[in-house]
Amino acid sequence: MELIDKIVELKKEKKAVILAHNYQRPEIQDIADYVGDSIELSRKAMEEKEAKIIVFSAVDFMAESAAILNPEKKVLLPSLGARCPMAQMLTVEEIKRWKALYPLVPVVLYVNTLASAKAYCDVCCTSANAVKVIESVNAETVLFGPDRNLADYVQRKTGKTIIPIPEWGFCPTHLLFQPEDVQLLKMQYPEAVVMVHPECTLEMRNVADFIGSTSQMCRYARENNAKTFIVATEEGLLHRLRKNNPEKQFILAYEGAVCPNMKLNTLERLYTALKEEKHVITVPKAIAERARKALEKMFELIN
Ligand code: 13P
Ligand code: SF4
Repeated sequence: MELIDKIVELKKEKKAVILAHNYQRPEIQDIADYVGDSIELSRKAMEEKEAKIIVFSAVDFMAESAAILNPEKKVLLPSLGARCPMAQMLTVEEIKRWKALYPLVPVVLYVNTLASAKAYCDVCCTSANAVKVIESVNAETVLFGPDRNLADYVQRKTGKTIIPIPEWGFCPTHLLFQPEDVQLLKMQYPEAVVMVHPECTLEMRNVADFIGSTSQMCRYARENNAKTFIVATEEGLLHRLRKNNPEKQFILAYEGAVCPNMKLNTLERLYTALKEEKHVITVPKAIAERARKALEKMFELIN
């Protein structure tokens, strides 16, 4: 039996659902029950009332959020090594240090953080709703981490003072994009529309026609009449963009833009995870309760 058929059979037998991030390998996206950005996957995990098991094909912090929001379900991460380096950049000690410096300033954390960090913030946000969340927070100054570029993007959009914590947090994959590469591509495809993820640098954001989360890019590409799109985010998204828009052309702004952590999840690992029900992602109760409040606050502010 083919590996794909074995996964489909096991999935039925175990009442499992497979949720995959937009950066997952094409073959994983193709067998997933749902493919989306980080906020859509969190919501989807909560909607799956019948499921006993959620195979969360993404990275550590996303699976942790699913476990926090669904304490009654078993959340599995196919590869334990799939850890987002940006999420590791903000420790609890660092948050405490900044809170001590600015005791009256609220802390907003990007979901790309570990649950232990989320437990020390007032509200979470994703790249899809960061501007709305910051606008809704009742303060003109906000501590924000760990992505320095997203902090800068939000500061420019809202006019509020955003203090990045740490001062240097970044996504190694999105930092690879350079405006010069886009300019070269634009010489070849002058009509192309440029879509950029807000984790990219200001220089990259300045050459964008559209800035948004991975799923916001999917919607924009579908609704826009352009035929060619230059895309500045992890290469996995291009599979979904091409699949949903076969008549349009999508070009990655830099060929090497791969998140090696996301790619640790393979079809083989996903099969083993489902078969052996590993690796179970759990969050200590006291941390989960506090982190859940920050995630729920986000849902409340954006609704
Ligand atoms: P999205 O929420 O846009 O999918 O982003 C998640 C992420 O990890 C970006 O690098
Ligand atoms: Fe983390 Fe960047 Fe990979 Fe997203 S693309 S999971 S932010 S390292």
